Amino acid sequence: MTAVPLKEQSFAHRLPKIELHAHLTGSISRACLHSIWETVKGRDAAFDVQDPLTAIPTDKVDYDLETFFPLFSSYIYKLCSDLPSIERYSTNAVLQDFQADGVVYLELRTTPRAIPEKGITKDDYVKAVLNVLNAWNQDKANTLRAYLILSVDRRNNIAQAEEVVDLCIKYSSTGVVGIDLCGDPAKGDVRIFADSFARAKAAGLKMTLHFAEAEVSASDIELETLLSWKPDRLGHVIHVKDSDHHFGMWRHTNVPVALSTDDVGVFCSPLSNEYALAMEHFDLSRAEIRTLCTGVIDSIFTGDDEKDRLRLMYAEWDGWAI
Ligand code: IMP
Ligand code: ZN
Repeated sequence: MTAVPLKEQSFAHRLPKIELHAHLTGSISRACLHSIWETVKGRDAAFDVQDPLTAIPTDKVDYDLETFFPLFSSYIYKLCSDLPSIERYSTNAVLQDFQADGVVYLELRTTPRAIPEKGITKDDYVKAVLNVLNAWNQDKANTLRAYLILSVDRRNNIAQAEEVVDLCIKYSSTGVVGIDLCGDPAKGDVRIFADSFARAKAAGLKMTLHFAEAEVSASDIELETLLSWKPDRLGHVIHVKDSDHHFGMWRHTNVPVALSTDDVGVFCSPLSNEYALAMEHFDLSRAEIRTLCTGVIDSIFTGDDEKDRLRLMYAEWDGWAI
């Protein structure tokens, strides 16, 4: 992590924060992955998956397109391959970590994953994650509220995308608030998903799409295709023309911007650090931070109850001047 002055770090940590772009599996800390590994290895000495502390060394954060996506498909998914690992350890630990960082509202996203060798269907996976989120939200001791977005992976075929839409609709009254398009930007042709995303939208689901996180997916045709689906939010939008640092550009427009972590387990930069970095590098005043935070509220995918809760929280927060 970049060294940010302690005063800013402490303010950014205390600040109540809204996280709208975090991938569940990418948000699992190395320590949590290690404890999952120890538990499974303790039960089954033949478990043939490397210790996360060796496979993903503590200070390694320099992942690129070639190394980042395989980290999930060829490693973390093998490690988190049973329901207790997904529920009790990883999902719960991810919620704890966000709450400990001062996050008060979280839209977590995940790609429904079947684990046939354990008899786990995509439906079982989504149900398991939702059960953890709903139990968490019912516990009055928690200051964080969490909701779920289901992701279509760019490598999916149409039938797989349809399955995600079915799950979104099935669980829309129990915690699923939207649909996402994610995955390796170098893979797939997003145009094949147009009808599936239209069906999700028609069913009332909110829509968020990854765009231009890499140059390879930053084409005009891809942008036109994705915008034609009428998304509610776009993630990343980094490789755009005529832009210095994207945050520096967008914050001066009337486009709402939400600072987010994406994959805090891999990149090790919690949301408080993202705020502290923005404060330091863009010299943001407390008033500008307040505008940034409250501006995110209108972009959340849940309804007025959560919007009211968050507005009240910021209005009553007494830490702005400290
Ligand atoms: P999961 O969906 O909970 O399994 O989280 C991990 C998945 O999120 C990865 O396999 C990727 O498909 C996706 N993901 C994480 N970060 C990014 C990103 O920056 N761009 C696109 N997809 C991403
Ligand atoms: Zn993402």
